[in-house]
Amino acid sequence: MYQSVKLSDSIFYVGVNDRRTELFENMWPLPRGVAYNSYIIRDEKVALIDTVEIGQVEKFLKKVRSVLGDQPVDYLVINHMEPDHAGSVNIIRQWYPDIKIVGNKKTLPMVEGFFEITDNLIEVGEGDEIDLGSHKLQFYMAPMVHWPETMVTYEHSRKVLFSGDAFGSFGTLDGGIFDDEMDFSYFHDEMRRYYSNIVGKYGSPVQKVLQKLQNLDIKIIASTHGPIIRSHIDEVLQMYNEWSRFQTQEGVVVAFASMYGHTEEMAEVTARAIAEEGIRDIRMYDVSKTHSSYIISDIFKYKAVVLGSSTYASELHPNMEALVNKLKHIGVRDHYLGVLGSFTWAGTAAKHLKEFGEALKWEIIDEPVEEKHTLKKQKYDECRTLGQSIAEKLKAERN
Ligand code: FEO
Repeated sequence: MYQSVKLSDSIFYVGVNDRRTELFENMWPLPRGVAYNSYIIRDEKVALIDTVEIGQVEKFLKKVRSVLGDQPVDYLVINHMEPDHAGSVNIIRQWYPDIKIVGNKKTLPMVEGFFEITDNLIEVGEGDEIDLGSHKLQFYMAPMVHWPETMVTYEHSRKVLFSGDAFGSFGTLDGGIFDDEMDFSYFHDEMRRYYSNIVGKYGSPVQKVLQKLQNLDIKIIASTHGPIIRSHIDEVLQMYNEWSRFQTQEGVVVAFASMYGHTEEMAEVTARAIAEEGIRDIRMYDVSKTHSSYIISDIFKYKAVVLGSSTYASELHPNMEALVNKLKHIGVRDHYLGVLGSFTWAGTAAKHLKEFGEALKWEIIDEPVEEKHTLKKQKYDECRTLGQSIAEKLKAERN
């Protein structure tokens, strides 16, 4: 019925696309949907690697049955218990009552907690192996990439890394399943948006996993979201290495919250001064219009940030407050920060933004520029000076 998609003669892609869900984790916009990837290894024993979100289970089961016919599944490997992957565990167990669920010591209590399953469980630890026949699975713990129980599974004969959320991205697989079957550049940005917002808080655990992966010969990275990677392996490993170290490139994110345009005008003046100094990558965002996940993703890319906010009821504009709270929650490091603010009777926005930068130990460039009422000559000049200072900082890092 289905023309199965193969990673090798006996490894099959059985993932599904979700084009209906608006918000991943009920938070993150999905303008081009999301894929939940799952895989089957068919050998003397059959292993299913992860499942899919419960709303997609019917499509998923059709694919699984299409690959296996009446052959049973011996093992279900759970790399990650978040319900976008483990949501169909109970249904799979109903179809395959003798299936053995494979997880680590942190996975199995979650299996019991979510599904009340207490039998046919196999606990694996770091480096443990399961032989399927000519295929051998080996397990490596990857705590906090993205949950504490997360692990990755390496298949030795075809050198496939089933990586869970790691190296995943938003976006459905629209015909092309492998990275070389599509315009992969779209997924660069969506992989970074996924990483920065979902996993970005856990840079150190990601570094530990990358160290482990250095010892593996990886020909295919089969994540639970987004394209299967076989032609850009070094590139995505490098991207993860940079993001998890908070390494950035030359450029500026200018994000503002403006009610009647005065803060926006200050942001425009500052951005123009930055551009006049030769900085080419400047991304300007109205935080009331662009979802914070896109802004945060670009902050993971670019070294400098300018934040501007009007004062609202003695606090930051609520949409700017939401952005900085998310940045604090993630613990984003190593940025330059320029601060802009405006107010009508009592200014506090610039003070709050400066405190935010100090809390994250970002280097604050010059003094905050804060204007009362409309932008006038003195503060206009200060915005330009701030822009020039930010550009000079960036240019000093060249070479
Ligand atoms: Fe794709 Fe952390 O789940």
